Amino acid sequence: MKKNNKNHSDSEIKSVSFDDMEMEYLDMHDDSDFENRIVAPEYNPEDADTENPLRPQTLDSYIGQDTVKQNLSVYISAALARHESLDHCLLYGPPGLGKTTLAGIIAHEMGVGLRITSGPAIERPGDLAALLSSLNPGDVLFIDEIHRLSRTVEEILYPAMEDFAIDIITGKGQGAMSYHLPLPKFTLVGATTRAGQLSAPLRDRFGVVLRLELYTTEQLADIVERSAGILGIAIDREGALELASRSRGTPRIANRLLRRVRDFAQVVGNGVITCDIARMALDRQEIDELGLDKIDRLLLSGIIKFYNGGPVGLETIAAAIGEEAVTIEDVYEPYLMQIGFLARTPRGRCVTNAAYLHLGLKPPAQADVPEQQSLFD
Ligand SMILES: Nc1ncnc2c1ncn2[C@@H]1O[C@H](COP(=O)(O)OP(=O)(O)O)[C@@H](O)[C@H]1O
Ligand SMILES: [Mg+2]
Repeated sequence: MKKNNKNHSDSEIKSVSFDDMEMEYLDMHDDSDFENRIVAPEYNPEDADTENPLRPQTLDSYIGQDTVKQNLSVYISAALARHESLDHCLLYGPPGLGKTTLAGIIAHEMGVGLRITSGPAIERPGDLAALLSSLNPGDVLFIDEIHRLSRTVEEILYPAMEDFAIDIITGKGQGAMSYHLPLPKFTLVGATTRAGQLSAPLRDRFGVVLRLELYTTEQLADIVERSAGILGIAIDREGALELASRSRGTPRIANRLLRRVRDFAQVVGNGVITCDIARMALDRQEIDELGLDKIDRLLLSGIIKFYNGGPVGLETIAAAIGEEAVTIEDVYEPYLMQIGFLARTPRGRCVTNAAYLHLGLKPPAQADVPEQQSLFD
């Protein structure tokens, strides 16, 4: 008989039917509000008012991502010196790390205009053709979520990126006409959370590919202090570090926590966000000292409880917690993997011993090879 953790023996796990599991998860869901999750790294329209003034406009004021900044500044200076437009750039990394911000910085540093759209917003090839032909020479066209462009739209983009021209075909059969439409030179900046989903021909047409990394606590504390300065919020370094350490490596979350804690500091404290105030406010929002919220804990404890800590397939986890697989992969997993709580194995996801300990559970003796234990029964 396997005893993988102190709370749930194998027989208990087997006696849970799928319906029971579903009910239990649904119960847990009722008070876990996915949409309004404070530590969600995705953009939320509520953030717009504070997010825009907080966006750095120059490479110098963009904190962290040193390799990306160094490379970009070389490419930008070189392009400026040659009086050319910058090569097409692909930015990739988890949500909230500064891709949209960087697109704005590129346009600003190049001294050109910025047009913003997104993969799902461009429905037909004609929409893209109209957008491209309305650009001014040198402009940056930012396409967010570029992996979600449709095939037919993508095909217009290839010659546009390569030759700065598009071929438009109108009519059908004998009456069909083809026009060759030259375009102004422009820089395409594409952003994606998943470079792997981009088609190879599209990926190959980007001269510059930049990968954004999760930020360190120190960098996030710098970002929090910068944002506090702009918003007129008083915070000390310890307060900034406390917010930073619970922000899952993500500036968007750091800025959001700053706003939440600000109200708390006004009501409970003397208006200054200190370490104690930050800790108290975030504990109250059930965001723990690693930045995990209820949903993260639900995900981890669900894998432990129902799948013995894994391995379990992504689709199964998705069905169990009622989230889309892509969201789990893009939004929850990067941070859980970064802090070493979740591992991806060829057979599925596994919860690590560190996660068991964090949740106050006793790790199984051999979490990675549960099936081998039967040899010793
Ligand atoms: N390197 C950075 N320095 C300072 N603030 C940043 C940085 N990166 C992101 N931010 C802040 O985080 C927020 C989210 O950034 P954004 O560019 O919208 O992320 P993404 O497009 O990758 O989801 C913005 O409000 C921005 O002010
Ligand atoms: Mg963005």
